[in-house]
Amino acid sequence: MKNSLLLLISFLLLASFKPQDKGSMGAKINSLLTKMTLQEKIGQMNQLNEWNNSAEMEQTIRSGSVGSFLNIVDAKKSNELQRIAVEETRLGIPLIFARDVIHGFKTIFPIPLGQAATWNPQLAENGARVAAMEASAAGIKWTFAPMIDITRDPRWGRIAESCGEDTYLTSVFGAAMVKGFQGDNLSAPTSIAACAKHFAGYGATESGKDYNTTWIPEVQLRDVYLPSFKAASEAGVASFMCSFNDINGIPSSANVHLNKDILRKEWGYNGVLVSDWGSIQQMISHGVCTDLKNAAKMGVEAGVDVDMMSFAYTNHLESLVKSGEVSIKTVNAIVRNILRLKMRLGLFENPYVKEQNPMPYYTQESLQKAKQAAIEGAILLKNDNNLLPLTTATKKLAIIGPLSDSQADQLGTWCFDAEPEHSVTPLKAIQQLVGNEVSIIAEKGLTYSRDKNQQGIEKAVDAAKSADVVLVFVGEEAIISGEARCRADINLPGAQSELIAALKATGKPLVMVVMAGRPLTIGTELNNADAVLYAFHGGTMAGPALADLIFGKAVPSGKLPVTIPRMVGQIPIYYAHKMTGRPAQNIDLIDSIPVGATQTSIGFTSYYLDAGDSPLFHFGYGLSYSSFSYSDVSLSSNKLQDGKTITVSCNITNTGKYDAEEVAQLYIRDLVASLARPVRELKDFRKIHLKAGETKTVSFMLNNEQLAFYNANLVKRTEPGDFQVWISTDSQSGKPATFRKI
Ligand code: GLC
Repeated sequence: MKNSLLLLISFLLLASFKPQDKGSMGAKINSLLTKMTLQEKIGQMNQLNEWNNSAEMEQTIRSGSVGSFLNIVDAKKSNELQRIAVEETRLGIPLIFARDVIHGFKTIFPIPLGQAATWNPQLAENGARVAAMEASAAGIKWTFAPMIDITRDPRWGRIAESCGEDTYLTSVFGAAMVKGFQGDNLSAPTSIAACAKHFAGYGATESGKDYNTTWIPEVQLRDVYLPSFKAASEAGVASFMCSFNDINGIPSSANVHLNKDILRKEWGYNGVLVSDWGSIQQMISHGVCTDLKNAAKMGVEAGVDVDMMSFAYTNHLESLVKSGEVSIKTVNAIVRNILRLKMRLGLFENPYVKEQNPMPYYTQESLQKAKQAAIEGAILLKNDNNLLPLTTATKKLAIIGPLSDSQADQLGTWCFDAEPEHSVTPLKAIQQLVGNEVSIIAEKGLTYSRDKNQQGIEKAVDAAKSADVVLVFVGEEAIISGEARCRADINLPGAQSELIAALKATGKPLVMVVMAGRPLTIGTELNNADAVLYAFHGGTMAGPALADLIFGKAVPSGKLPVTIPRMVGQIPIYYAHKMTGRPAQNIDLIDSIPVGATQTSIGFTSYYLDAGDSPLFHFGYGLSYSSFSYSDVSLSSNKLQDGKTITVSCNITNTGKYDAEEVAQLYIRDLVASLARPVRELKDFRKIHLKAGETKTVSFMLNNEQLAFYNANLVKRTEPGDFQVWISTDSQSGKPATFRKI
């Protein structure tokens, strides 16, 4: 019986051959596939987290019932398990060991939102390269990063892991991170497979609450949420991960249109699609599946290759195939993707990791790269009277706040393998930098960011009174940022606002540094501080980076990758919004309306009576210690024909006294189209270095493709008509030039 079954399955296999994999890799995959039993194929589709029964784990491997593990981060241990897979299983197919290495493994870089704030993708590539070099030494060959969900809602804790609100900026940074993780050769010892996640639309989660539903019209899905994933696919990302959310009622783990029509057919993607943790099983909770067997069927039919921790495939796929409910061809296509990934990683030739001692962690080069990213990711929001940079003429400095000396919190979310003892905090870094020349008094005032106990504020105020300048480090603990860490109120938590008000009352010059996992509604505190640096969670070297910025060894160059709202009630608020039929004008704010005003005595346009229509700070905004002037934009032509490009240029002058970096941003607006278009869309950017007084001409090429959008019939095209174009220092500034697409 068994032989005839094997014969039948082999025959079906031969019938299911598609010359998808050509060449030697294809031959190897085909050869292996013909030898594999159904159980062995299903084993490859099973991804497990380590559990505390080694004997059972080893037997699971030995029986070929698992294809990859996540969260085993020890070279020796992964080699031991790998040896069982390679030497004690029937076909010796190696395992992959995976881990979330989101913004560093041991050397922690700024959270991805902070990396995006650098507008320097090379720094993000560097960070991913350092992460890959460190993680691969521990046996990791697959990371679940970059997270390239677009989000316009800072209530969502996972905004920390994202590159912010803009499709183009996220596309550029996601591709850079893929390159950093995967290197030039995925089979190299320090290369690890990257994973574009979460596919798709997760950042549109309703009300900013994690795992919530999303309602995304397909034109918006294709214009806003998918391009960063397409860019990652084109960058050669080795895998994708399903998102937890449903899009318009269809969970991504069951979304045939997303995972097959778009990812596989339209984009021709042939990497691995892994579920998110339990996301196949969670389709029961979504209410689209009756039970785990039904979920297994829907997942495999939606092209989810690997089941992370739902146990759906391992428990039900064999019976589904034997009953004919799932075709063996479907399983074979999936297993091909998995074998292809393992071959691209070179695991068949080199399944083991070199066990090093010492491990290549925290090298000076890595730490320097992390520091540079933290320097360039800090955004100067305010600098009244040029208070910053400080000099050692400041004889006494008070360093205050719950984030001034918190090694763990400055690392931010998603840094499982970090060692906080390696973090250099702002207090320690400033002491190291200027402690010999400046007297420093440190009083936290609050012991942690959520601390409501104000008893420590008095001592902080006394410290401030004794100092020439006060530095206060505030923000969020790491634990209130990241997955499932959503906040309906995004003010500074705890009594931080009261602390800042008390420091303000001393009359001392006050510098506020915010270290958070999201934009916070800091309007009140902004008024109380003379200077404000927004640093997000800056990683291992956040302290030295901030010390260099505060004392002028570095000049701020960060720009906001996300809008900072005035009030949480404005959310979603983002720069690339539509004009609407009644754009805000003649704004009458609530406190200015006369008592007894009649219904028609104030306007009827789009704004909030209690917040107006603008954010606290807009996308792309960031100051420098220097200043820059932009000339009018010039165009090589005021007409753009199909297949042609126009050159858009302007001169940028550093009009200040510091050599500095500036991020020139290229925006367009399609003035009239078949669908209302955003008032601005970022299409390119360039970070340039300008010496004090220097002028440089910055030019961008603009082509037809960059202007295209999906129309109501889901056709992507550029429509004839007039466009505006800016080269500006942020998403609100500058004077546009106009050209016509003909
Ligand atoms: C988590 C996250 C995902 C991560 C996975 C494995 O729930 O949603 O981003 O890669 O599980 O840890």
